[in-house]
Amino acid sequence: MTQLSIDASPWWQSATGYQIYPRSFCDTNGDGIGDIPGIIAKLDHLRDLGIGFIWLSPVYRSPMADNGYDISDYRDIAPEFGTLADFDRLVAEASARGIRIVMDLVVNHSSSDHAWFHAARASRDAPEHDYYVWRDPAPDGGPPNGHQACFGGSAWTWVPEVGQYYLGHFSPHQPDLNWQNPSLRREIYDMMNWWFDRGIAGFRMDVISLIGKDVDAGLYEEGPYLHGFLQDMHREVLEGRDSVTVGESWAVSTDTALLYCGRDRRELDMVFQFNHVVEGWDPVHGKWKPRPFDLVAFKRVLNDWQAALANDGWNSLFLSNHDLPRQVSKYGDDGAYRVKSAKMLATVMHLMKGTPFVYQGEEIGMTNAAFTRIDQFRDVETLGHYAEEIARGVSPEAFIAGANANGRDNARTPMQWTGGTNAGFTDGTPWIEVNPNHGQVNVEADRADPNGVFAHYKELIALRKSWPAMVHGTYRPVAEEDGSVFAYLRELNGVRLAVVANFKGEDTQFDVPDALRGSGRCLISNDIPRERLDGRITLKPFEAFVLSIGG
Ligand code: GLC
Ligand code: CA
Repeated sequence: MTQLSIDASPWWQSATGYQIYPRSFCDTNGDGIGDIPGIIAKLDHLRDLGIGFIWLSPVYRSPMADNGYDISDYRDIAPEFGTLADFDRLVAEASARGIRIVMDLVVNHSSSDHAWFHAARASRDAPEHDYYVWRDPAPDGGPPNGHQACFGGSAWTWVPEVGQYYLGHFSPHQPDLNWQNPSLRREIYDMMNWWFDRGIAGFRMDVISLIGKDVDAGLYEEGPYLHGFLQDMHREVLEGRDSVTVGESWAVSTDTALLYCGRDRRELDMVFQFNHVVEGWDPVHGKWKPRPFDLVAFKRVLNDWQAALANDGWNSLFLSNHDLPRQVSKYGDDGAYRVKSAKMLATVMHLMKGTPFVYQGEEIGMTNAAFTRIDQFRDVETLGHYAEEIARGVSPEAFIAGANANGRDNARTPMQWTGGTNAGFTDGTPWIEVNPNHGQVNVEADRADPNGVFAHYKELIALRKSWPAMVHGTYRPVAEEDGSVFAYLRELNGVRLAVVANFKGEDTQFDVPDALRGSGRCLISNDIPRERLDGRITLKPFEAFVLSIGG
């Protein structure tokens, strides 16, 4: 890549994203629920970290069946989160700190409480009826097909007033929008433009790969109309804007990624793909029964993505979000090596080619919750599957073990600001329990420690701004079959960055591959800095470092 094309590269390639799950971030009025004034109050924390933009999980008006991923008014803010005036203030205050706001766009479905759905379910003659997906009953009066909802039960719900079933691919509270209807598409594009006019910088698009579905053909993910709709949306909303868009897809693979984010496609800038996450699931029982971590398989997935988007498209880099377990618990060690392994994971992710995303609390090494009773869980997905699994004969203990390992509530326990009452998250009763480890793991303590996790993240984010090779350098994996070490090289205009990370909590021998040999400056490390890479070296437990070698 030439200097000229680097200078012309979009801002979101060298920026770092930070995801906020508003309900769990910071509560300012004591109702136990995080709010927008709480986010504003903590913006200095994010400015200090050095992030370039916030991906804000949904703050729209919602009955909160899925904590905001069920929107009842796309042009208003949920009262528990604040007002539109609060939102405008957030955009302004963030902007004053060099931070842009990226909204979550949830348009595969609305809430069943949206005015469109109220009209749609009242009469087949309402124009909004066709905004949703309706089918006649099967000959026996039952649902049109056996499609199951992601959160449990049938995906079809009967509405006697219209004598039809509607599709709720996730749950009955989240009726699927019918993208085939041009007026519905127009409503969505107008709404997106309305938010852009309020000063946002882009959208993270929730389960966007579902919008092109062909229900009768049984095609939901990456259906036949998907890319036509995304190109339509690009033309109507995104064309000519200096924005960023990231489409979430649990189905996208390296074979289809460039259909979304290839430079000639005019659809999205990036996708959130989950191939590396699903790699860790049981092929039959899925996330509720995780399988042991396999570093070689994990590297293969991420390396394949690096290769697939090497010259076109752009990767998003993440291990955590509001739907996933805490990364230090999942891929590192949340006991004795919590701090060290949290830094190791961050180093590996931030040095890959793409835009890194930090999930709230990750920057201080927050860990999974360890709930023991089902009444401690809040997530619609966990509770929906609990009922089903228990009915299938699974014991509550076994189910809770799976939910503690991979359930979504792990990421949703309140942000741990202090070691005090409720981790400084709220003066009231938090909507979900605070992790009892907040006495040790909290922002105040971690930031006070020059060797804390926060300091490491801050350094990584700063390095990204001064080392173009970290952003734009080519990516070359090495030691791909090594089951303990993740290593690779980034290269740009003669600058070579060697990245080495030990995924094991023990001393590990590593035969330095030729491509990494050399000596130079250690840019970052979570152990004693190294200056030479040669021969056989012994890596310390969870050691990770970046060396600028030769040149
Ligand atoms: C996405 C969101 C998840 C939500 C689902 C339905 O996967 O990340 O939280 O439950 O879509 O909107
Ligand atoms: Ca509140």
